[in-house]
Amino acid sequence: MESKIKTLNEKMRLAALGGGESRIEKQHAKKKLTARERITYLLDDGSFEEIGALVTHRTKDFGMENQQFYGDGVITGYGTIHRRLVYVFAQDFTVFGGSLSETHAEKICKIMDLALKVGAPLIGLNDSGGARIQEGVRSLGGYADIFYRNVQASGVIPQISAIMGPCAGGAVYSPAMTDFTMMVEDTSYMFVTGPNVVKTVTNEEVTSEELGGASTHSVKSGVAHITASNDVACLEDIKQLLSYLPQNNREKPSRLPIDLGTEIRQELTTIVPENPNKPYDMHAVIQGIIDEDSFFEIHKNYAENIIVGFARLGGESIGIVANQPLFLAGVLDVDSAKKAARFVRFCDCFNIPLLVLEDVPGFLPGTDQEWNGIIVHGAKLLYAFSEATVPRVTVITRKAYGGAYDVMNSKHIGADMNFAWPSAEIAVMGAKGAAEIIFKKEISNAKDPEQKWKEKEAEYAELFANPYSAAERGFIDEVILPQDTRRKLLKAFAMLANKEEVRPKRKHGNIPL
Ligand code: HXC
Repeated sequence: MESKIKTLNEKMRLAALGGGESRIEKQHAKKKLTARERITYLLDDGSFEEIGALVTHRTKDFGMENQQFYGDGVITGYGTIHRRLVYVFAQDFTVFGGSLSETHAEKICKIMDLALKVGAPLIGLNDSGGARIQEGVRSLGGYADIFYRNVQASGVIPQISAIMGPCAGGAVYSPAMTDFTMMVEDTSYMFVTGPNVVKTVTNEEVTSEELGGASTHSVKSGVAHITASNDVACLEDIKQLLSYLPQNNREKPSRLPIDLGTEIRQELTTIVPENPNKPYDMHAVIQGIIDEDSFFEIHKNYAENIIVGFARLGGESIGIVANQPLFLAGVLDVDSAKKAARFVRFCDCFNIPLLVLEDVPGFLPGTDQEWNGIIVHGAKLLYAFSEATVPRVTVITRKAYGGAYDVMNSKHIGADMNFAWPSAEIAVMGAKGAAEIIFKKEISNAKDPEQKWKEKEAEYAELFANPYSAAERGFIDEVILPQDTRRKLLKAFAMLANKEEVRPKRKHGNIPL
């Protein structure tokens, strides 16, 4: 037995070494942790159980039979984060550049299948040169096996991808189909075709970082939901994100203990400026409502005219969608509609109640928006809210104009509770524009058209720039004092906790993609 145990120990020692000391040093020199270090940092101490540590590839071409590394470039298994079960794979760049072989893919699929059967989150730490070039179509097949499972798991278990090195070619489509993609600044990049191919095909000169670095994907493309300054910060973000999520779509997120008091927040009364055209930071409203320091923002630097993120209210996890008057006056446009729609659908999949904070002057006009399909993209958000069956509450802080009023979780599309502050203006459009259209003749025939316009603007504003017409019809359930908002929301969400809504039987809807 002793010699057999020795053999096992030796194999496990080699498996732990991955591609060997010199490649580990190279990894560290790039300011990257190794796959094993990442898993150790991510999971609760001592909780990791590895599956398939002794797997090796089956390739015999190109002298590959003489190059065998236990694990075959990916570490897979399960463990806990905050004592809750998760499945994890971490690609090991020290073994064939973390490239994906048939067996590497089989290992990932094995834990994906387990995660789905058991109902626990899946975390992928990506650091790979893509398809194992020596394996050809067997590698491509392996990718497709993963893609297929990403889709089967979508909406059933949370799936989180961290990009911690290269992620190129078709390999990008697995992270893209998971719920959240995180990227590490300076050491990660994602693109379908790299700078060399881009140069050949389009003659554009671009670096990897410009083409697909963390900044590009968090600001321009929206592919990355969260960026972190280094590996450790990225792994911390994963842990924090998971704390807001349930294990699967059959559970609710767990509640954190909290002592509640009067819950009056006086600071909320001074945020909305007297001048309706002056911007303010909706983050201040969010902070005034939620449990202290509990906001975890998603897509922070992308489409900043809308804010989305998780928070806690009375210890319960909620998703927040909020117009941001500080950017583009908080209008809805192509990017903000896509960003918010995706977030709303995630929350709905995983039983996370939605809070909408509304100050929206409408949709952004212009050829750019129309030609880029604001019609279809705006419809995504309208569709996402309309299909969501989680508890849904809206607070209108100021403007709720035009079609955007309908879209932003209005009563008409199934919101459960709709509140408005006394500063709310619920109207087809701003008073100035409205007066110009409906009093056109009167204004142009007046001795002093400018003065007449002002009068008519004031008349329209008096009638509609308030929450009362909507409240009279029941479109608004209650006009509330800003300082009372947290208290009202605590009660509303508690009242809605057991909400159930049954929708017509169908295979699936056809969201405008
Ligand atoms: C096999 C690979 C590999 C790959 C890297 N390696 N990529 N082995 N298949 N795809 C190996 C290298 O030979 C090297 O082995 C080790 O990994 C580290 O690679 P380096 O090149 O030394 O590292 P670095 O300089 O950091 O460059 C990393 C890299 C580069 C930019 C990722 O390796 C590279 O360009 N690789 C090829 C990328 C690629 O074209 N992949 C296929 C994309 S198509 P040694 O033994 O020297 O340590 C694709 C299709 C997917 O992925 C389709 C899905 C549907």
